[in-house]
Order: sequence, then structure tokens, then C-alpha cells
Amino acid sequence: MKKVTAILLVLAMVMMMLSGCGSKNAESGDEMFKVGIIQLMEHPSLDTIRESIIEGLEDEGYVEGENLKIEYQNGQNDMSTMKNIAQTFVGDECDVIVAIATPAAQAALSETTEIPIVFAAITDPVGAGLVDSLDNPGGNVTGTSDEVSAEMIMNLAKDITPDFKTIGVLYNIGEDNSVSVVAQLKEYAGENGYKVIESTVTNTGEVQQAAQYLADKVDIVFSPIDNTVASSMAVATETFNNAGIPFYVSADSMVNDGGLATCGIDYTVLGRETAAMIADILEGADPAAIAVRKMSEMSVYVNKETAKALNIEIPQAILDKAVLFPEE
Ligand code: TRP
Repeated sequence: MKKVTAILLVLAMVMMMLSGCGSKNAESGDEMFKVGIIQLMEHPSLDTIRESIIEGLEDEGYVEGENLKIEYQNGQNDMSTMKNIAQTFVGDECDVIVAIATPAAQAALSETTEIPIVFAAITDPVGAGLVDSLDNPGGNVTGTSDEVSAEMIMNLAKDITPDFKTIGVLYNIGEDNSVSVVAQLKEYAGENGYKVIESTVTNTGEVQQAAQYLADKVDIVFSPIDNTVASSMAVATETFNNAGIPFYVSADSMVNDGGLATCGIDYTVLGRETAAMIADILEGADPAAIAVRKMSEMSVYVNKETAKALNIEIPQAILDKAVLFPEE
């Protein structure tokens, strides 16, 4: 029996040497870094961000199983779950905590002001209380922002469906990321003579009723980069399509999931940028002094099937520049 074990061991070692894996660490003496990823919930946009962060880290030379251990946990859209996850990461002495979406970053910061936190896709990092300012974060937290412009999205709405007077707004009032974009929208509406009717939710279970409330009252609906709405797009889209109401959203995934159109950022690029910041911090940079990165490129996204369902003719000039869903 012992002999068999010994032979197996030798065989295993030979195979490891041949394939070149496993021994690299020991040979080079490379450090094993530990990164904890806490994600608010699973919806398509947040999943895309996480995947491209992991790919980006690989491009930066941080490869899972080689010199990097990734602990990923889904926060189930629940604050106390996320705080527990953050506590676990602190207890495990993670080198960096990565937080995807605003409530996840807020939960992480509530558990540590020592371990660097790199956030991904935070719409309003200052308003969410995560950094002192975008240029000088000041504490243990920095990362990427996915801020969009409510005005740009409304200008797109005017190009596609010019005749609206009343804008319905659907969002989760508990998400600071949404509250800040809605404030922008209200300012724009006030300056341009539009009426705004808000319908707010606190969880996904309330989305259908809140959508129906608006469907009876408004000409178009707008949703900010809201995680709760993003994870209930099927319900929201069905309600608005049935009522013949154009539904303007704030993220590419929300258009892919049935929203009519938006002007927004590319989350794959955002994930890569976030990975570069994580790499800098693993190499010793101080988050306090690393400015929050905003995405400069905006693209127009249009859902052709939704346009068809609403009998809306999208102007050719928009079709020419837009990313179209469903993808062919
Ligand atoms: N920006 C959101 C936040 O700050 C997170 C987010 C990223 C998001 N991509 C999204 C929300 C797409 C809705 C849809 O929490």
C-alpha cells in the first residue's frame, strides 16, 4: 500500500513538472494574493462586470490558482448578508475587497477602514458616502464609476419619441445610485418644462405594481441605473409594452432585457479598468490617492424588438450609430 502511494506521488510530481503547473509558485517564491469579491446580487450587468474584472486581473498577471485566490460571494440583495460577507473577508485577511454595486461597497466600508476596497460601477461614489471626492478619495476606498447623464438619455428620448410631456420615474428609493440620477432628471425636467411622476419600490416584488401605476399616467418612463429594476426587467417591460409606453433605461443590459433605449457606458471596459486599479493596489498603491475613474465613452443602445412592439420607427441616424439588441 505504501509503495503504491509512493509511486502515485512520484507520478503526480512528474506530471506537474511536465505540465508546468503547480510548482511555479514555490519556485518563484511569488506571493499568493487574496481578493474577496462581494456583489450585491446577480443580474446580467453585475455578472458581466465581475467576469471582466477577473479577465482583466489575468491580463495584469494575477491568475487564479497561480498567484491569486478569489473568494466570490453574492450578497442576495440583503444588507446584513453583505455585512457578514465583508466581515468574513476581513477575517480572512484579504489583500483587497472588490465591491460590485453601491450597497455592496457601503457594506464593505462599514466593516473595514483598513483593508483597501476597490469598487466597481458605483454611480455616485461621493453621494453614497464612499469617498471624500472623486479626485482624492481620502480613505481606503476607490474604484470605477458608471455615472450616466439623465439629460443625454432624455435628449435621446426626444429624438425617438418627441411628443412626451410627462415622465414617469421607476426606481428603488433605497439605492443611492438611483437617487442621484433621479435628482439630475428632476432638475432637467424642471428646466425644460416636463412634469415628473415618481413611482418607487423597495424590492423586486413591488416592481409590477409600481410600473402599472405609472403606465396609467405618463407618456414615457425612465429608470436610472437601478439594481432592483435591472433584475425585474421582464415584468417592467411587459407592463410598459402592453400600455404602449416607451421605457428609457440607463444601462446596456437593461436594453438587452427589453428596455427601449439608452445612452450609456460599456461595462466590459469598466470591469477592465477596475482590474487595473486592483492590480495597482496589490502592487502597493494607496487607494486614498488614486482618483475614481469615470468612463468617458458613451454609446447609444436600442432594442429593435421593443421598438417594433411599440410601433416606433427609430430614426435612421440613431440606428446608424446605435448598438442594436437583440444581437444578430
Ligand atoms: N451603478 C450601479 C450601482 O451603483 C450598479 C450597476 C452596474 C447597475 N451596472 C448596472 C445597476 C446595470 C443596474 C443596471 O449600484
